[in-house]
Amino acid sequence: MIKAAWHGGREVDQAKVEALAAVEEERFRRERPRSMEATARAAATMPRGVPMSWMDELYDHPPLWVSHGAGSRFWDVDGHEYVDMYVADMSAFCGHAPAPVVRAVCERMAAGNQFLLPSPDALVVAEALAARYGMAKWQFTLSATQANTEVVRIARARTGREKILVFDGKYHGHLEPTLGVADGGAVQPEYTGLPAEVSAHLRIAGFNDLDAVERALAPGDVAVLLTEPALTNAGFLLPDPGFHDGLRALTRRQGTLLAIDETHTLVTAHGGLTTAWGLEPDFLTVGKSIAGGVPLGAYGMTDEVAATLRPPAGGAAVSGIAYDEVATGGTLFANPLSMAAARAALTEVLTPGAFLATARLGGELAAGLRAHIDRAGLPWSVNAHGSHAFYFFSPQPPRDARGARDTDLPDLRALIRLFLANRGVWESGWWLGPTVSVAHTSPDVELYLDAIGEFIDAVA
Ligand SMILES: Cc1ncc(COP(=O)(O)O)c(C=O)c1O
Repeated sequence: MIKAAWHGGREVDQAKVEALAAVEEERFRRERPRSMEATARAAATMPRGVPMSWMDELYDHPPLWVSHGAGSRFWDVDGHEYVDMYVADMSAFCGHAPAPVVRAVCERMAAGNQFLLPSPDALVVAEALAARYGMAKWQFTLSATQANTEVVRIARARTGREKILVFDGKYHGHLEPTLGVADGGAVQPEYTGLPAEVSAHLRIAGFNDLDAVERALAPGDVAVLLTEPALTNAGFLLPDPGFHDGLRALTRRQGTLLAIDETHTLVTAHGGLTTAWGLEPDFLTVGKSIAGGVPLGAYGMTDEVAATLRPPAGGAAVSGIAYDEVATGGTLFANPLSMAAARAALTEVLTPGAFLATARLGGELAAGLRAHIDRAGLPWSVNAHGSHAFYFFSPQPPRDARGARDTDLPDLRALIRLFLANRGVWESGWWLGPTVSVAHTSPDVELYLDAIGEFIDAVA
């Protein structure tokens, strides 16, 4: 069901939209018998018929089972080809099966992939990240979630404080300290299965609201402010001029550490938005595409913060006693396979030239979206930076997550992704917006824009 009509500008025939949703949903299922069958069979061995129940939740339509990918495209088990504008929630920004990463992974696997010891690639990767993002010291995990988990722990150990500040509309992974939502002046657990303490240690402010940040930091008990440079998980929300300067000044004044999460935004510029905008965080998190989609998370920190990771007093002993050390690490973290993939991705795929090309293509994408919106007279707007864009169903892009929630039309967004999927275009999840990868070309962007144009013609 489509919950709301477009407001302002041209109205959409609601009945037409609802009829179209029924037709597209039926077509999606009918044309994908193998995917439907796989989910039905998997229900016997996996909750909700998928290997990670989240996969059933990400879209309003049934899950698609994938066979393979190459460059900007992937194919489902029913043989349909898709131009991929979602790039696996930014993790496929290197393109599918990028040749340098494929080569590096094959070579590393053949030479042994796991020793619980550093491999020389770790040197190359840490040096490449330090040069790219301007952070002195680096540590590695298997995901950005785990990287953020360690960032929060180190910040708490460093400051001796327990509280965390994040922005409404944030997503930094399923790490417990951040899993709360603002509820009036209070914070509530965001999901079931969480202890009430989550709310006690978490503060949430509105993005672009420096007064709220000042109030949240005022008691002097916040260990770290964790934020993306521009929020990407509630639409693409850009900071107001001066917002980041304000954040840095307020955090410094209150002794709060500042952690910038570039896990998504690293696709928008070679050094992320941190370098593009001259930000000065104490921590910087990356993940997803830095190893071409092979599991790897990483966080950079200043020399001063890194001093917190000193050896424990007294050395190791039989477990069962408390250690004077921050809990970090995991058996497979920083494994040689992930490091080989990251070395290839960072030095051969995610090059300065690649970012120039994706920014140019991203410009074509954003301009094409705006042209369709203008042509149809729709009261929509577009935010974009580098390879990434997002269309809002409001005349002006919202400045915070509340604005994004108030102006979004989830059922309409769901219909767009269904309509596009049935025409060989894989639109992003509702929160993210389209992105071009290093492997995309102008014809890929044209295909996407043609499908969006066809949708607008069908309903506006
Ligand atoms: C900004 C940000 N940080 C961290 C994460 C967590 O990444 P992962 O699921 O790979 O651990 C995400 C995931 O979408 C994200 O958007």
